[in-house]
Amino acid sequence: MAAGKKKKQNKNQWADHLTRRAKAENYPARSIYKLEEIQNKFKVIKNKNRVLDLGCAPGSWLLYVSRQVGDCGRVFGIDLKALDIELPGNVFVIKDNILNLNNDSFLDENTGFNVVLSDMAPGTTGRKDVDALRSFELCNMALKVADRFLAQNGHFVCKIFQGNDFNAFQKNVKSKFKECKIFKPDSCRKQSKEIYIIAKYKR
Ligand SMILES: C[S@@+](CC[C@H](N)C(=O)[O-])C[C@H]1O[C@@H](n2cnc3c(N)ncnc32)[C@H](O)[C@@H]1O
Repeated sequence: MAAGKKKKQNKNQWADHLTRRAKAENYPARSIYKLEEIQNKFKVIKNKNRVLDLGCAPGSWLLYVSRQVGDCGRVFGIDLKALDIELPGNVFVIKDNILNLNNDSFLDENTGFNVVLSDMAPGTTGRKDVDALRSFELCNMALKVADRFLAQNGHFVCKIFQGNDFNAFQKNVKSKFKECKIFKPDSCRKQSKEIYIIAKYKR
């Protein structure tokens, strides 16, 4: 078999393994394992926390965070798309565009988050420069939301596609948080340009 074909097959096998595992564990997407790796390494979410999940559909992170915060914690999610899963009692979701929030009251009534997560991803065009620019726009908005609604000493986790604006974004995050690390979970597809910024202790 040709080397290229074998490599592609291995990558697909890995992707299939995580997709199958997510299905067996009742998560709607394999992205759960990225957050699990982040949580195991950085311990961003604690019992009883209030967590805001930007770009929450199809809902894997919501389900995972719901367990991490427990019955006394709260998880709020926002996405362009409606969710198609049954949500635990401590999870609340609205369908909205983060770039054009017309339901500000949802957030205004629920300020003082301990953690803001953003796994938002733009619809991909196949053009890396355009995709990276759109991702940057979403990240900037996520950072604005964190700036406004995150409690002091709160944590921010944000997915970004590595592109020209990556360094500027990282610098901006660093100015607002006491700790800032870059992390690529093993469960990210190897060919993907996505990476996570883990920022702790909002100034
Ligand atoms: C990779 S998925 C998130 C997966 C999620 N973390 C999970 O585990 O189920 C990215 C999500 O970002 C959402 N998204 C992209 N742009 C958005 C925007 N402007 N406002 C709100 N959500 C957005 C998409 O609709 C998509 O559902």
